[in-house]
Amino acid sequence: MAFQKPTGTQDLLPGTVEKWQYVEEKVRDISRRFNYREIRTPIFEQTELFVRGVGETTDVVEKEMYTFKDKGDRSMTLRPEGTAGVVRSFVENKLYGEPDVTKLYYVGPMFRYERPQAGRQRQFHQFGIEALGATDPAIDAEVIAMGYQLCVELGLKDVRVEVNSVGNASSRAAYRQRLLDFLLPMKDTLCKDCQSRIERNPLRVLDCKVDQDKFTDAPSILDSLDEECSTHFAKVQSYLNDMNVEFTLNSRLVRGLDYYTMTAFEFKAQGIGAIDTIGGGGRYNGLVGDLGGPDQPGIGFGMGLERIQLILEHQGIAADTSKPLDVYLIPLGEAAEREVTKQLFLLRQAGIAAERDYLNRKMKAQMKAADRLHTRYTAILGDDELERGEIALKAMATGEQRTVRLDELKDALI
Ligand code: HAM
Repeated sequence: MAFQKPTGTQDLLPGTVEKWQYVEEKVRDISRRFNYREIRTPIFEQTELFVRGVGETTDVVEKEMYTFKDKGDRSMTLRPEGTAGVVRSFVENKLYGEPDVTKLYYVGPMFRYERPQAGRQRQFHQFGIEALGATDPAIDAEVIAMGYQLCVELGLKDVRVEVNSVGNASSRAAYRQRLLDFLLPMKDTLCKDCQSRIERNPLRVLDCKVDQDKFTDAPSILDSLDEECSTHFAKVQSYLNDMNVEFTLNSRLVRGLDYYTMTAFEFKAQGIGAIDTIGGGGRYNGLVGDLGGPDQPGIGFGMGLERIQLILEHQGIAADTSKPLDVYLIPLGEAAEREVTKQLFLLRQAGIAAERDYLNRKMKAQMKAADRLHTRYTAILGDDELERGEIALKAMATGEQRTVRLDELKDALI
């Protein structure tokens, strides 16, 4: 019986993996420049962490989690996102005790049981950052600017940044009431999801794809912000202006996870149909406390790496991923074969990417194999050369051939 990969997962084969490595290198490089350090947390956590962290009424927790009982009868969940685990680790390892703002980034797989389509997988990958310990609006602007800059450096075109403030708990309570006054009279005309959501999480109703058009006159959350939130948000915007990061205000932007407070934002790009969001994030000033830590604020974003790949491809942006082989060694004869095995190891030890034939093929077939690998040089070792302690080195681009001493092969290639 032949097996197939699970629905909503992908095999990243050689040729594609290099495109991922290209993005991952950019991600690590920009993280270094913005002074974020890598954190790696487990891929599964206690289910309760996500229920509390992400929120009981979110789609993620209600419908999309990969939850299972382990052999000790504990409920575990494959992480559907990165923030809850990072915050759990921040609390558990008492990183809040450090004197500076804790700036962390992560790259890795996340799991959500969703209906797969282009850019939506059940196992997908995120690059995310989290800055914990500061409320300064300069951090909000930095986080947004970093996501924007990453998109620019990846070469993505038409990237849009949308920002909003979803307020603190008290402004949201005020807004919730205004929104309910607007939504309840039209409840019967809304889709099933919205009808069930309306009382539990009315802000999410605004995000409904089906009923969008009915909400054009909905009250704006920005009118319900208290002094603290609106001053904070005004500063975030002025910093973004100072940095020349273009953004649009979208007072309807409510994120799908419950921990957000104040600044919320998304990065979007045209060209991937219904799914146009590359990433998003925001502030979560209550989450550390909710997960058993001290009262410490946080902000971050998550970007989907599948989405980035999709847009890169859609926009025809070819990453320079070619990493050609340096040399292909071709032995002619048994003695030469033995020498080649040794030389190959010496070259690789010296940092040179080298390969040989293992299928006992004729010289012509070996030359073809070297061609397929786009190797820069082939090095041919016959018995005569071996006796003289030499090897024939051919530059594949020019066809130029010269003889070098075997003990100088490494230096010749370097
Ligand atoms: P999120 O908006 O749920 O936020 O996910 C962030 C990004 O992950 C999305 O914009 C999308 O690019 C990608 N993504 C989500 N689900 C899928 C999927 N099923 N298939 C492919 N890509 C997907 C978060 O996860 C927050 N933890 C972000 C954050 C960090 N907020 C603060 N800090």
